[in-house]
Amino acid sequence: MKKILITGANRGLGLGFAKKCLKKNVHVLATVRDIKGSKELLALKERFPDNLEIFELDLLKKKAGYTLANFLGDRPIDILINNAGVGSTNQHFEAVTPKPWLEVLKVNLIAPLMVTQSIIDNVKKGVDKKIYFLSSQLGSIADNNSGGMYIYRSSKTGLNQVIKSLSVDLKPQGITVVALHPGWVKTDMGGPNAPVSIDESIDGMMQVIYKTDISDTGRFLNHKGKELPW
Ligand SMILES: NC(=O)c1ccc[n+]([C@@H]2O[C@H](COP(=O)([O-])OP(=O)(O)OC[C@H]3O[C@@H](n4cnc5c(N)ncnc54)[C@H](OP(=O)(O)O)[C@@H]3O)[C@@H](O)[C@H]2O)c1
Repeated sequence: MKKILITGANRGLGLGFAKKCLKKNVHVLATVRDIKGSKELLALKERFPDNLEIFELDLLKKKAGYTLANFLGDRPIDILINNAGVGSTNQHFEAVTPKPWLEVLKVNLIAPLMVTQSIIDNVKKGVDKKIYFLSSQLGSIADNNSGGMYIYRSSKTGLNQVIKSLSVDLKPQGITVVALHPGWVKTDMGGPNAPVSIDESIDGMMQVIYKTDISDTGRFLNHKGKELPW
């Protein structure tokens, strides 16, 4: 059975990925910051007791990657989805300050690579050998015609560069690395005015995940499989 690890799986897109994968008979390793508070995921655990494992992981904790690697041991992971991320407020030119900026960079830019570094041996042992990162079109420099959003944009632009390097470094080992933009999605982060539903975004991204392989490594794709400019 295929094994997929999803970070930030208690709500939003992470929870959407978990639900869809469980319905497709995929074994899900879901990481969350607070197991007790993850009510929807715990309800899923009752429905899929054998196929869902939940692990507590706060990406801001120093040893996050290390504890995750210990939990996994030598188990293979077929697909890793680095999904967890945060937005920010007060991030226009006059308002932006270093402290909240650094917090966002830790979660959106540094932690995804640290997690990947810690469990890369598990991915190498998997059959699929695929890693996806939830980036954002807002991280695209080529697409930035509206300015602002210094904190969130720079965190995802940095992540894009990390993804690109990783795709080059891991290609000889047959590991696929892809940046995904989920669309502007109705989640806590996307807000109620977002035009894309969680279902639509997840259906699209799952198609992209199943269709992409090593020949696609280093690409930046949206939930419709469309190539985005870096
Ligand atoms: N929604 C959109 O329109 C959109 C567009 C482009 C890209 N994205 C990207 O897609 C991903 C998912 O977004 P979403 O819309 O589902 O966001 P969301 O609904 O706000 O969910 C964010 C998830 O990340 C987790 N998280 C935040 N900080 C964390 C930390 N320090 N350690 C571990 N987990 C942490 C949250 O856990 P808690 O519940 O514990 O906070 C939650 O599970 C993000 O990377 C986001 O940047 C979203």
